[in-house]
Amino acid sequence: MNFHILTLFPDMVERGLNTSIIGRAVGKGLLNIETINIRDYTLDRHKKVDDYPYGGGAGMVMQAQPIYDAWQAVAQKIGRKPRTVYLTPQGNTFQQEMAKDYAKEEDLVLLCGHYEGIDERAYTLADKTISIGDYVLTSGELASMVVIDAVVRRLDGVLGDEGSSVDESFYDGLLEYPQYTRPAQYRGMSVPDVL
Ligand code: ADE
Repeated sequence: MNFHILTLFPDMVERGLNTSIIGRAVGKGLLNIETINIRDYTLDRHKKVDDYPYGGGAGMVMQAQPIYDAWQAVAQKIGRKPRTVYLTPQGNTFQQEMAKDYAKEEDLVLLCGHYEGIDERAYTLADKTISIGDYVLTSGELASMVVIDAVVRRLDGVLGDEGSSVDESFYDGLLEYPQYTRPAQYRGMSVPDVL
Protein backbone atom coordinates (compact mmCIF):
# COMPACT_ATOMS: atom_id res chain seq x y z
CA MET A 1 0.00 0.00 0.00
CA ASN A 2 1.19 3.52 -0.78
CA PHE A 3 0.55 6.46 1.54
CA HIS A 4 0.99 9.94 0.06
CA ILE A 5 1.06 12.66 2.69
CA LEU A 6 0.54 16.26 1.59
CA THR A 7 2.18 18.30 4.31
CA LEU A 8 4.13 21.45 5.13
CA PHE A 9 6.30 19.43 7.54
CA PRO A 10 7.56 16.29 5.80
CA ASP A 11 10.28 15.75 8.46
CA MET A 12 7.69 15.42 11.18
CA VAL A 13 5.85 12.52 9.54
CA GLU A 14 8.97 10.86 8.14
CA ARG A 15 10.62 10.79 11.56
CA GLY A 16 7.46 9.66 13.27
CA LEU A 17 6.86 6.77 10.92
CA ASN A 18 10.30 5.32 10.34
CA THR A 19 10.68 3.44 13.62
CA SER A 20 9.19 0.40 15.30
CA ILE A 21 6.60 -1.76 13.53
CA ILE A 22 5.84 0.72 10.75
CA GLY A 23 9.52 1.36 10.07
CA ARG A 24 10.16 -2.38 9.82
CA ALA A 25 7.17 -2.86 7.53
CA VAL A 26 8.49 -0.15 5.22
CA GLY A 27 11.90 -1.89 5.28
CA LYS A 28 10.21 -5.15 4.27
CA GLY A 29 8.52 -3.39 1.35
CA LEU A 30 5.00 -3.97 2.70
CA LEU A 31 4.14 -0.31 2.29
CA ASN A 32 5.52 2.98 1.03
CA ILE A 33 5.27 6.33 2.73
CA GLU A 34 5.75 9.32 0.45
CA THR A 35 5.68 12.88 1.74
CA ILE A 36 4.88 15.72 -0.63
CA ASN A 37 5.87 19.17 0.56
CA ILE A 38 2.98 21.47 -0.31
CA ARG A 39 5.39 24.42 -0.23
CA ASP A 40 7.19 22.99 -3.28
CA TYR A 41 4.06 23.73 -5.30
CA THR A 42 3.47 27.36 -4.42
CA LEU A 43 3.69 29.85 -7.26
CA ASP A 44 4.55 32.62 -4.81
CA ARG A 45 8.12 33.85 -5.17
CA HIS A 46 8.50 34.04 -1.40
CA LYS A 47 7.28 30.44 -1.09
CA LYS A 48 4.22 31.58 0.83
CA VAL A 49 1.42 29.01 1.16
CA ASP A 50 -1.01 30.89 3.40
CA ASP A 51 -2.88 34.18 3.42
CA TYR A 52 -5.31 36.22 5.51
CA PRO A 53 -8.88 34.96 5.59
CA TYR A 54 -11.52 36.88 3.62
CA GLY A 55 -13.86 38.49 6.10
CA GLY A 56 -11.16 38.87 8.73
CA GLY A 57 -10.61 36.74 11.80
CA ALA A 58 -7.57 35.43 13.61
CA GLY A 59 -4.84 33.40 11.93
CA MET A 60 -3.95 32.46 8.41
CA VAL A 61 -5.53 30.08 5.93
CA MET A 62 -3.68 27.68 3.63
CA GLN A 63 -4.25 28.65 0.01
CA ALA A 64 -6.01 26.31 -2.39
CA GLN A 65 -3.51 26.51 -5.29
CA PRO A 66 -0.43 24.83 -3.75
CA ILE A 67 -2.61 22.13 -2.19
CA TYR A 68 -4.42 21.50 -5.44
CA ASP A 69 -1.22 21.30 -7.49
CA ALA A 70 0.51 19.03 -4.95
CA TRP A 71 -2.49 16.68 -5.01
CA GLN A 72 -2.60 16.74 -8.80
CA ALA A 73 1.08 15.75 -8.97
CA VAL A 74 0.24 12.63 -6.92
CA ALA A 75 -2.82 11.83 -9.03
CA GLN A 76 -0.78 12.19 -12.20
CA LYS A 77 2.01 9.99 -10.86
CA ILE A 78 -0.31 7.12 -9.99
CA GLY A 79 -2.48 7.66 -13.07
CA ARG A 80 -5.89 8.07 -11.41
CA LYS A 81 -7.81 9.95 -8.75
CA PRO A 82 -6.64 8.49 -5.44
CA ARG A 83 -8.83 8.17 -2.37
CA THR A 84 -8.11 11.29 -0.36
CA VAL A 85 -8.76 12.26 3.24
CA TYR A 86 -8.38 15.67 4.85
CA LEU A 87 -7.40 15.70 8.54
CA THR A 88 -9.34 18.32 10.44
CA PRO A 89 -10.87 18.66 13.91
CA GLN A 90 -14.20 19.30 12.14
CA GLY A 91 -14.08 15.94 10.37
CA ASN A 92 -15.81 12.59 10.92
CA THR A 93 -14.41 10.82 13.97
CA PHE A 94 -11.90 8.17 12.94
CA GLN A 95 -13.09 4.62 13.63
CA GLN A 96 -11.56 1.17 13.43
CA GLU A 97 -13.97 0.32 10.58
CA MET A 98 -12.45 3.14 8.52
CA ALA A 99 -8.96 1.77 9.16
CA LYS A 100 -10.08 -1.65 7.86
CA ASP A 101 -11.64 -0.05 4.82
CA TYR A 102 -8.59 2.08 3.95
CA ALA A 103 -6.33 -0.96 4.30
CA LYS A 104 -7.95 -2.32 1.11
CA GLU A 105 -6.69 0.64 -0.96
CA GLU A 106 -3.60 0.58 -3.15
CA ASP A 107 -3.06 4.32 -2.58
CA LEU A 108 -4.28 6.73 0.07
CA VAL A 109 -3.65 10.48 0.09
CA LEU A 110 -3.68 12.28 3.44
CA LEU A 111 -3.93 16.05 3.40
CA CYS A 112 -2.63 17.79 6.53
CA GLY A 113 -3.94 21.23 7.35
CA HIS A 114 -2.09 23.92 9.28
CA TYR A 115 -2.72 27.38 10.66
CA GLU A 116 -6.46 28.07 10.86
CA GLY A 117 -7.25 25.49 8.18
CA ILE A 118 -7.37 25.35 4.40
CA ASP A 119 -9.28 27.33 1.79
CA GLU A 120 -12.71 25.73 1.44
CA ARG A 121 -12.09 25.20 -2.28
CA ALA A 122 -9.31 22.69 -1.55
CA TYR A 123 -11.85 20.57 0.36
CA THR A 124 -13.21 19.42 -2.98
CA LEU A 125 -10.15 17.16 -3.34
CA ALA A 126 -11.07 15.11 -0.29
CA ASP A 127 -13.49 12.18 -0.33
CA LYS A 128 -13.76 12.43 3.42
CA THR A 129 -12.75 14.66 6.32
CA ILE A 130 -11.36 12.90 9.39
CA SER A 131 -10.89 13.99 12.98
CA ILE A 132 -8.94 11.80 15.38
CA GLY A 133 -10.83 13.18 18.38
CA ASP A 134 -12.65 16.13 19.82
CA TYR A 135 -9.67 18.37 20.48
CA VAL A 136 -7.60 20.73 18.35
CA LEU A 137 -4.00 19.89 17.45
CA THR A 138 -1.52 22.35 15.98
CA SER A 139 -1.72 20.58 12.63
CA GLY A 140 -2.94 17.53 10.75
CA GLU A 141 0.44 15.76 10.71
CA LEU A 142 0.01 13.96 14.04
CA ALA A 143 -3.50 13.01 13.03
CA SER A 144 -2.26 11.58 9.72
CA MET A 145 0.27 9.45 11.64
CA VAL A 146 -2.50 8.09 13.84
CA VAL A 147 -4.58 7.14 10.81
CA ILE A 148 -1.61 5.56 9.02
CA ASP A 149 -0.66 3.56 12.11
CA ALA A 150 -4.17 2.15 12.46
CA VAL A 151 -4.32 1.26 8.75
CA VAL A 152 -0.82 -0.22 8.52
CA ARG A 153 -1.37 -2.74 11.29
CA ARG A 154 -4.25 -4.14 9.24
CA LEU A 155 -1.99 -4.93 6.28
CA ASP A 156 -0.92 -8.52 5.73
CA GLY A 157 2.51 -9.32 7.09
CA VAL A 158 2.88 -6.20 9.21
CA LEU A 159 2.23 -7.73 12.61
CA GLY A 160 4.55 -10.67 13.22
CA ASP A 161 1.76 -13.05 14.07
CA GLU A 162 -0.95 -12.80 11.39
CA GLY A 163 -3.58 -13.56 14.00
CA SER A 164 -2.71 -10.83 16.42
CA SER A 165 -4.41 -7.97 14.59
CA VAL A 166 -7.60 -10.01 14.22
CA ASP A 167 -7.55 -11.06 17.85
CA GLU A 168 -7.10 -7.61 19.30
CA SER A 169 -9.26 -5.18 21.19
CA PHE A 170 -11.34 -3.94 18.32
CA TYR A 171 -12.09 -7.23 16.66
CA ASP A 172 -15.87 -7.53 16.57
CA GLY A 173 -16.00 -4.46 18.80
CA LEU A 174 -15.05 -6.49 21.86
CA LEU A 175 -12.43 -5.34 24.30
CA GLU A 176 -9.68 -7.79 25.05
CA TYR A 177 -9.12 -9.27 28.49
CA PRO A 178 -6.30 -7.96 30.76
CA GLN A 179 -2.81 -9.29 30.01
CA TYR A 180 -0.04 -10.40 32.38
CA THR A 181 3.51 -11.61 31.96
CA ARG A 182 6.18 -12.87 34.38
CA PRO A 183 6.81 -12.62 37.29
CA ALA A 184 3.66 -14.06 38.83
CA GLN A 185 4.09 -11.75 41.85
CA TYR A 186 4.97 -8.07 41.56
CA ARG A 187 4.78 -5.55 44.41
CA GLY A 188 2.17 -7.65 46.19
CA MET A 189 0.04 -7.99 43.06
CA SER A 190 -0.49 -11.48 41.63
CA VAL A 191 -1.42 -12.86 38.28
CA PRO A 192 -4.99 -14.28 38.54
CA ASP A 193 -5.01 -17.96 39.56
CA VAL A 194 -6.93 -18.94 36.45
CA LEU A 195 -3.85 -18.10 34.35
N1 ADE B 1 -5.97 18.89 13.01
C1 ADE B 1 -6.04 19.58 14.16
N2 ADE B 1 -6.69 18.90 15.10
C2 ADE B 1 -7.10 17.72 14.53
C3 ADE B 1 -7.85 16.61 14.98
N3 ADE B 1 -8.34 16.53 16.22
N4 ADE B 1 -8.07 15.61 14.11
C4 ADE B 1 -7.61 15.68 12.85
N5 ADE B 1 -6.89 16.71 12.36
C5 ADE B 1 -6.64 17.73 13.19
